[in-house]
Amino acid sequence: MSGGDEFAERDLLDPNPAEEDLDVGAADDPGLRPRNLAEFVGQAELKEHLSIILEAAHGRAQAVDHLLFAGPPGLGKTTLAGIIAVEMGVGLHVTSGPALERAGDLAAILTRLTDGDVLFIDEIHRLSRAVEEVLYPAMEDFQLDIVLGKGPAARSLRLDLPRFTLVGATTRTGLITGPLRDRFGLVARLDYYSPDDLQAIVRRAADIVGVSIDSAGAREIARRARGTPRIANRLLRRVRDYAEVRAEGTIDQHTARDGLAVFGVDERGLDKVDRAILDALCRRFGGGPVGLSTLAISVGEPTETVEDVYEPFLIQEGLLARTPRGRVATPAAWHHLGVTPPADATFGSSLADDPTLFDR
Ligand SMILES: Nc1ncnc2c1ncn2[C@@H]1O[C@H](COP(=O)(O)OP(=O)(O)O)[C@@H](O)[C@H]1O
Ligand SMILES: [Mg+2]
Repeated sequence: MSGGDEFAERDLLDPNPAEEDLDVGAADDPGLRPRNLAEFVGQAELKEHLSIILEAAHGRAQAVDHLLFAGPPGLGKTTLAGIIAVEMGVGLHVTSGPALERAGDLAAILTRLTDGDVLFIDEIHRLSRAVEEVLYPAMEDFQLDIVLGKGPAARSLRLDLPRFTLVGATTRTGLITGPLRDRFGLVARLDYYSPDDLQAIVRRAADIVGVSIDSAGAREIARRARGTPRIANRLLRRVRDYAEVRAEGTIDQHTARDGLAVFGVDERGLDKVDRAILDALCRRFGGGPVGLSTLAISVGEPTETVEDVYEPFLIQEGLLARTPRGRVATPAAWHHLGVTPPADATFGSSLADDPTLFDR
């Protein structure tokens, strides 16, 4: 096994170097995180699949099959991992791809699991090869291969692991290696939320934080939340601040509108970076096509952030398109910026004949 000599004694003694608390989720309000499936709004199909899987596992008194959640940030992947542990009444261990630097980091966590536990690995596409290789037999046969010592004196040791459930989260399934992907019993994609679902999420959050909001106010926030619960909650907090300082403390459509305008969220819910991307694309690069990295540099954001966080929403809104030669602005993008496209603009359509070219 490659990377096996990384198991220094230290790794096995070190109390959980790579394990994290669930509530590290940036500025997420831990109190807002739904704790069970019933509180989890939207994603009806996925919820149904999960409730069947959980109930069946419960009935057989077995650990749940390994699950992989994919989708843009803030759609509820971490939340679901927590919900699965709660619904099954088992322990939850949280770590992430980048935190598991060496094979020993993963081994330390695996050996600490008990039967049925959920191990959540966030950003699982960022696992190193050496760590991934330890994960394969752990997922499939609940076994851990350890190589002790180095060179000719090395001995290999096989440990039985408890039956655990691996829950992985990733922003991009495309980056997960085939062998890893194949070891999950369910690969689920989380979609952007509908305005109705987001409205329900805003109302629920308003109840929890104790601010009064009418349905038009909740609608306004929901409509501009980029389809994303985390953003809906964040906008609610900002509008609440605005309402407390500049209005009477309650949120109606008017306060929501004014508050969102103050914080730079526009009619379509685009924030400053979204608009900077469209602006660069249209004004600086004549509508494209322009390469992703060039675009990212011109707005001062990491390429990965543009690709994982901003671009999926702009594409879904029909404001940006991917072509084999780069990103192009759609007519709707020009319209949104209030700029007239150049007369010779093709919007990438000269490339649209060959659909196979569109996969980046
Ligand atoms: N379906 C949902 N219903 C209600 N709130 C949600 C839902 N999904 C996410 N949230 C809220 O959004 C926040 C971000 O969710 P999280 O699970 O951390 O997203 P991800 O891990 O996909 O980035 C959570 O703290 C929670 O408050
Ligand atoms: Mg998360």
